[in-house]
Amino acid sequence: MKSTPLNVVGLPGLIHGCDYNPDQWPHAPEVIEEDFRLFPEAGIGFVSLNIFGWARLEPEEGRYDFGWLDDIFARVQNAGMKVFLSTPSAAAPNWLTHRYPEVLRVDERGHRRFPGTRMNFCPSSRIYREKVAALNTELGARYGKHPALALWHISNEYHGVCYCDDCEAGFRTWLKNRYGTLDALNAAWWSSFWSRTYTAWDQIRAPRPDGEGNSIHGLCLDWRRFGSDLWADFITGEIAAVRSSGSTIPTATNLHPGGLKLDAWRITAPTDIISWDAYPAYHAKVEPWSVAWNSIVYQSFIQQLCGGIRPDQPWLLMETTPSSANWMEVPKLKRPGLHRLTVLQSIAHGADSALYFQWRAGRGGEEKFHGAVLENSGGPSSRVFADVQSATDALTRLAPVAGSLARAEVAVGFDWDNWWLQSEILSHGSCGRCHYPWEQLDLYREHWENAVPCAVVDPSADITDLSRYRMLILPQHYALRSGFVEKLTAWVEAGGVLLTGVLSGWVDENDLVFPGGMDAGWSRLVGLRREELDQLYPDEHNRFVLAPGNALGLEGEFNAIMKLELNHLAGAEVLATYGDDFYAGRPALTVNKVGKGFVYYQAARSDQDFRTALIAALWRRHDVRPLLPAGSLPPGMTLQRRIAADGQEFWFFLNFRREAQTVRLHDCAGQDLLTGRECSGELTLPAYGAAVLSIGAN
Ligand code: GLA
Repeated sequence: MKSTPLNVVGLPGLIHGCDYNPDQWPHAPEVIEEDFRLFPEAGIGFVSLNIFGWARLEPEEGRYDFGWLDDIFARVQNAGMKVFLSTPSAAAPNWLTHRYPEVLRVDERGHRRFPGTRMNFCPSSRIYREKVAALNTELGARYGKHPALALWHISNEYHGVCYCDDCEAGFRTWLKNRYGTLDALNAAWWSSFWSRTYTAWDQIRAPRPDGEGNSIHGLCLDWRRFGSDLWADFITGEIAAVRSSGSTIPTATNLHPGGLKLDAWRITAPTDIISWDAYPAYHAKVEPWSVAWNSIVYQSFIQQLCGGIRPDQPWLLMETTPSSANWMEVPKLKRPGLHRLTVLQSIAHGADSALYFQWRAGRGGEEKFHGAVLENSGGPSSRVFADVQSATDALTRLAPVAGSLARAEVAVGFDWDNWWLQSEILSHGSCGRCHYPWEQLDLYREHWENAVPCAVVDPSADITDLSRYRMLILPQHYALRSGFVEKLTAWVEAGGVLLTGVLSGWVDENDLVFPGGMDAGWSRLVGLRREELDQLYPDEHNRFVLAPGNALGLEGEFNAIMKLELNHLAGAEVLATYGDDFYAGRPALTVNKVGKGFVYYQAARSDQDFRTALIAALWRRHDVRPLLPAGSLPPGMTLQRRIAADGQEFWFFLNFRREAQTVRLHDCAGQDLLTGRECSGELTLPAYGAAVLSIGAN
């Protein structure tokens, strides 16, 4: 009998928990009693505490009251539960902002904001940092070695930027470290354009709509990089304080669902574990599925991205709602069964946990109608409570999955520099400009729907070891970080298969176009030379005309849309040419053989027909094997896989449709951990049903 494997925080099995805000109930001890009576009934073993507890912990400056938190810690320990203890920096108490209004954030027009809400402080503020550090130091000393403590939950969903003088001064220091001299900065920013040359560091300001705007792209890019590094620095300070008494408990900060504006690689660098808050709009009205398939696949995409930031670790789903999210346009309830399925979706993609916002809904404030395990009108006999119990049952049965990884041999590339540059900064036509993450998502979806596990990684990040992957898909990889072409070339030479294309390899990491239009190394890699970029209206198209007998075995014609590069061959072989206009006959799809590997270049965007055909042809030619033969999965069902260190595999079949569906298992057979049944031949999943087959080393 194997022992239960350890999860990412070093405890056995999977984690089921929630945000717990007893600080909102000082007047109601009977509520706290009830909470601890019901936690085991719900199957909640972990609580994220103190996320917004500052005002209660430090009711006036320098006077701490830990009594209530001591009590909760003791109760948690008695109950055999664990704490994710938050540093409460996300929301400042009123005494602080009243006495030190300079800690408040300044907007891009120079207006200092008024006190209130949360995440309304300046990350550079010396006073704010001091106050946070003082409280965190107390927390570290008091609870840092407490047996019930499992994780430091560092603040909550950092986001936003501040335009105060201190932040701008910090930006200038950051720039000095990056460039050393103004000459180097002016060169990197091409600032002689429109006479923007800087002759003193103090002249540099943040880009603002009524100032420098979007005209100096290097400035815009560096401001965003600085913003992420500034938060990383703030986080580093928070962690140093909680660790100052020797606590060795791991740390995580929960990434914000819409907070992709901050580079997740940069801001999580000081932390030990990646965590993410998922609020999918599964209710959106999108056909043909009964829930919004785009939203579902997007969740999977981001979840794989969490795994890509730390490829050797599971990650934590730190928040999701057990029913609805009141801030959505249509806060539709999760239909029966969907909750358990969405929890399993996160687990399938490498999470070792499911935690909720929140345990008990408050009676007042903005989130009183937000879904919670215990809603104001609910209780242990409610439907939501039963849904949570069904997730408990699944997570308990899936304990053997803890610590395993959602590995893949195909990866889609995604990074923030390229996202910022193409969604906010790029100056080539506004039509279709924001396509960057959607192109990635579309390509990811081909894998999601066809039982091909697919990672999402920043291929140029040091932590990304390309040798893990057989195939890398790199759409719109517009900016090339220094050293990346060499890394990529070495991987291709060793046998890697790269698919890239339009809008890739145009500029260096400062957004400067390469002399001659292409980096020489990139040109050699793709076997092309670039001349022009055409843009079509959304209702126009050109054509990919497949060359007879091409190496991919593709036939016929497909639409070439939106952005179309006019390239010349420089070593690559033509697989398809354009069909129309003055560039008919020019290369539209090519392959370049480099060492033992292949580089495919798709010179224009395509619609789904071509994407589907091309990806399937690449799998065929390069022996990327779906977990099940093509066409096995019915629409709305996905198959994901986690692999344990000892080689044991867990195959997650997830049915996102509101009706039962059957999948043929072919050679796959194993025990469904959720039911204990041996499965082979065919597997029928009920509406929103799931099965997790345990396969291999037992
Ligand atoms: C975020 C926050 C939580 C809560 C939820 C509501 O994820 O971290 O505190 O506000 O949203 O959906």
